[in-house]
Amino acid sequence: MAPQDEPVETKVLALGDEAIAEAARLILAGRTVAVPTETVYGLAADATRDCAVAAIYAAKGRPSFNPLIVHVGDLEQAEAIGRFDPAARALAERWWPGPLTLVVPLRPEAAIARAVTAGLGTVALRCPAHPAIRALLRACRRPLAAPSANSSGTISPTRADHVLKTLGGRIALVLDGGETARGLESTIVKVDGSGLHLLRPGPIAIDDLLDPPPTSGRIEAPGQLASHYAPSKPLRVDATAAEPDEWFIGFGRVDGDDNLSPGGDLGEAAARLFAALHRGEESPKPRVAVAAIPAEGIGLAINDRLRRAAAPRET
Ligand code: TXA
Ligand code: MG
Repeated sequence: MAPQDEPVETKVLALGDEAIAEAARLILAGRTVAVPTETVYGLAADATRDCAVAAIYAAKGRPSFNPLIVHVGDLEQAEAIGRFDPAARALAERWWPGPLTLVVPLRPEAAIARAVTAGLGTVALRCPAHPAIRALLRACRRPLAAPSANSSGTISPTRADHVLKTLGGRIALVLDGGETARGLESTIVKVDGSGLHLLRPGPIAIDDLLDPPPTSGRIEAPGQLASHYAPSKPLRVDATAAEPDEWFIGFGRVDGDDNLSPGGDLGEAAARLFAALHRGEESPKPRVAVAAIPAEGIGLAINDRLRRAAAPRET
């Protein structure tokens, strides 16, 4: 089947048994379906079939060098795809199901489409906790490749209508499960012979994961482009007050048109970040500013996303 480059009518179904059955039917036919996870909505397809994976890249306009995360139902399914050393297995046993992605060596015999890993010798694996994607994994009985369900480089989706903003007319179905709980993409850790490397900060804080914390916080994932998660207007970070032409997203006592968490709770701020950026993008103001967010715990992941959203666009 050719990648989905023809416009399609995108159906939206509220989560439930029938919606999961329809989603599984579409995925087994090689199509893509947006599904909520506990982090952000993912665009899922059959990870074992080249044409299904190609449909993800086509719908997102994603560069083919940027590999996808493979979602699995449990550690056993993950170990059939990647090689887990004791350190990787310990992390999986501690945090799965949950918002942690592990990058481990790919088993050469694994039944995974080559495009999923963009030809790398490693594979990113995640066992998600959200009941919707877990039900879909059970119904499909195969691993699902799923990047965030947004057009490449735009703000990630934490609600079904965010998915429709950039992928409406490009994908077959959105499963609507309401707002996602965590709001930021999974923490990504690479495990190799030399130890653990943080590739992307996320809901699981680095201090909780790595003991002692790594010396380098350098972001190494190939898809971690400097400009990413970006609204379609200029964004200013660490702002103390709004300029007249700015939509201002506050935090704690620094209030604005919006506030990520009036009580200064970083978990709440993470869960609301992308929805607030979407609102800023839709506001009549030509620019967006965001208050300073403390760089501790999940605040590190929030600041990572904000810096990328504010970075000059790569062409
Ligand atoms: O929370 C999440 O992780 C969401 C939900 C849907 O699971 N998914 C997600 O996928 O954020 P995506 O494609 O937007 O981000 C995946 C990141 C990219 O930066 C990619 O480069 C990196 O994971 N990645 C994938 N495979 C990799 C590998 N083998 N080595 C290093 N980085 C890898
Ligand atoms: Mg993404």
